[in-house]
Amino acid sequence: MTVHSDQPYNAEPPRSALAGADLTPTDAFYSRNHGPVPEVDAGAWRLEVDGLVGTPLSLSLDDLRARFPQATETATLQCAGNRREGLVAVRDIPGEAPWGPTATATATWTGVRLADVLAAAGVTDGATDVEFLGADVSEEAQPPQEFGGSVPLRKAGMPEVLLAWAMNDEPLAPVHGAPVRVVVPGYIGARSVKWVHRVRVADAPSPNFFQASTYRLLPADAEVTGTPGEGVALGLVAVNSDFLSPDAESSHPAGPLTVTGYAFAGGDRTVARVDVSTDGGRSWSQAELEEQVSPWAWRHWSSTVELPRGGTEVLARAWDSSAALQPERPEHVWNPKGYVNNSWARLRLHGT
Ligand code: MTE
Repeated sequence: MTVHSDQPYNAEPPRSALAGADLTPTDAFYSRNHGPVPEVDAGAWRLEVDGLVGTPLSLSLDDLRARFPQATETATLQCAGNRREGLVAVRDIPGEAPWGPTATATATWTGVRLADVLAAAGVTDGATDVEFLGADVSEEAQPPQEFGGSVPLRKAGMPEVLLAWAMNDEPLAPVHGAPVRVVVPGYIGARSVKWVHRVRVADAPSPNFFQASTYRLLPADAEVTGTPGEGVALGLVAVNSDFLSPDAESSHPAGPLTVTGYAFAGGDRTVARVDVSTDGGRSWSQAELEEQVSPWAWRHWSSTVELPRGGTEVLARAWDSSAALQPERPEHVWNPKGYVNNSWARLRLHGT
């Protein structure tokens, strides 16, 4: 793993650890934390469900298992800071980790549907948003506070949104949110709140620092002030892709070479097409798309290119099912917090 920081623990695997398998082994799944990993006693854990509900609930893990049908989804999580290193290369982004392309990973999540829990609590009139609060207190927030965030009620009520206790058929690891985390497929990873202990139904988006003051897209010339409401709140993931093999800057005999990667559409869109170029984008060939393992998962792809002697920079770009195409250059999407770098993927290879 490349460890961006030990405390809080932030780490991502090498590209090769994600290549070749749709499901990411848990030990290769990136970790993104804004505070220390809390120790939560699963036996004493309760989920409070309150706010604009007819019947507030306080549920133990056994209650969740006994009262609601079990549900499983395969879903990709992608951090909004994924591929930030490409933006940092354009202009420095102080205070933010230069994540590579592997703050993205896919797992099978098992738990119960949030929709079933909300139905048991009975959402009342006027509700528009559902807030999640985690047990970790982040000193990065102003003022320090529990990590939290919200999604619109209509998303919270979709069957793919889970309160998950298992990842890849194993109990959740502490670093991934044990005993229970939220999984919001199609949304930035920040909304999949770990160590969740409260679900609050509200008539506005969460006032939590990580929703109201950060994870917001500011124009390139804006100053980051942390004022609640500035910029655009991030939610749905934008179409993105990157290479998984071979390694960047690796050397290969000139001639045919297979390159592979992932593409992720986000929202409820799917990956429609991926193109690869070895001549700076003058000509492109269409990559072969692997199976879409779930509507909420990335799609792996591969392409055999002709590596010239001396090498080249291989480019990749994806379209999603809304016909959105990745923008060409990181300069076009640079923003002061370094979110959503979905510019074309670039892989420098040497040909011998
Ligand atoms: N939940 C809590 N409670 N605290 C956090 O710091 N980080 C979020 C989200 N949920 C976070 C959290 C972010 S920014 C991301 S990208 C995902 O968790 C990462 O999940 P992972 O660490 O399991 O990969």
